[in-house]
Amino acid sequence: TGLKDYYKNDFLIGTAMNAATFTDNDVALQQLIAREFNAITAENAMKWEVLRPELNKWDWDISDKIVEFGTEHDMHVIGHTLVWHSQVPDAVFQDDAGKPLTREALLARMEEHINIVVGRYKGRIPTWDVVNEAIEDDGQWRKSHWLNIIGRDYIAKAFELAHKADPSAHLMYNDYSMFLEKKRQGVVDMVRELKKQKVPIHGVGMQGHLGISGPDLAEVEKSIIAFANEGVRVHITELDVDVLPSVWEITGADIATRFDYKPEMDPYRDGLPAEKEEQLAERYEALFKLFIRHRDKIDRVSTWGTSDDASWKNDFPIKGRVNYPLLFDRNREPKLAWHKVAAVP
Ligand code: XIL
Repeated sequence: TGLKDYYKNDFLIGTAMNAATFTDNDVALQQLIAREFNAITAENAMKWEVLRPELNKWDWDISDKIVEFGTEHDMHVIGHTLVWHSQVPDAVFQDDAGKPLTREALLARMEEHINIVVGRYKGRIPTWDVVNEAIEDDGQWRKSHWLNIIGRDYIAKAFELAHKADPSAHLMYNDYSMFLEKKRQGVVDMVRELKKQKVPIHGVGMQGHLGISGPDLAEVEKSIIAFANEGVRVHITELDVDVLPSVWEITGADIATRFDYKPEMDPYRDGLPAEKEEQLAERYEALFKLFIRHRDKIDRVSTWGTSDDASWKNDFPIKGRVNYPLLFDRNREPKLAWHKVAAVP
C-alpha cells in the first residue's frame, strides 16, 4: 500500500517524474512511484524547450517513456505544459529573420504545437495544463510574448485548440502563489471571462510551492473555494514545502535588491534537526487535512517530485542548496511527513 491507497476515496495522489528516473534506469524509484502514486506529471519532458528544442526538431524520448510508464501502471497522466512564458525557446516568437512574429503567425505556431503534442497522446493523457503562469501576483496578466504578440484572447485560443485536439481531455489553468488575494481575484476574473465565452476550461491547478510556516492555510482555503465557485475542479499541483529561509532572509537583502548569497550560508546542510522534521510533518498534515475537508472540490494532490535528493528546491533560486521539501528522504525512505499524511484520511 502507498499514499494513493490511503486517499482512494478522496482524490488522486500524484508526483512529478524527471528524466534521470529513466536515463539512469532507476528501477527502485520507478517501483516506489508505482506503489505510492496514481498520477504523474513530467517535471520537464513535455515543456516546449525539451520536447521541441528547435522548431523542426522534436525529442519525444522521455515524454513517451513517462506516458508509457503511466499507462503500464494505470496512472492518470497530466500533460505539463502547452503555453508558458518559460522554458520555451525565443525562436518560437520570431520569424526566420529574427523579427517578432505577427499575431496570425504565432497563433498558427501555437495551433501546430498543440495539435501535434495533444494529438500524439490523445486518449493517453486525460488532463492538460494548457496555460501555465499567465497571471502575475498582483492579478495583472503577465506581459509574455504570448500576450504581447497575440493579445488577450491567446488563453481562450489555447484552450479551444486543446479541446479540438482532444475533445475528451480535462483542460486546466495552472499557476503559483494562488493564495495571494490579488492573484486569486485575477484568476477568478479570468476563469469567469473564459466561462462566459464558453471556453472549455475544466480545472485550476494551484501550484503548491509553499513554505514551512507560510502562507496562512486560511488563504489557501479561500482560493480552493473561490476557484470551485467558478465551476472548475481544483487540483493541488507541484506541492513541496521549503524548509529553508529564503536567500533574501539569509542575506538580509531587500527583496528588490541583489543578494550576495552562497549555498554554504544555508542552515541544515548536514541534516534537518528533529524539531524541524516535526514542523515539516505537521505542516504537511495540516495541508492534507485542509484538502480532505474540500475533497468534493479537489480532484488531485500532486507533489513536485518524490524524494528530497531530486527536488528542484535544491537548485532554486541558486544551485547547491540542501533542501527537504518532499515526503521521501535522500535514501527514498518515507519521512515523518509521509507518516502523518498517510494517517490523515
Ligand atoms: C521546474 C522544474 O522542477 C525544474 O527542474 C526546472 O529547472 C524549472 O522548472 N512552476 C512550474 C514547473 O510550472 O514547471 C517548474 O518546474 C516549477 C515552477
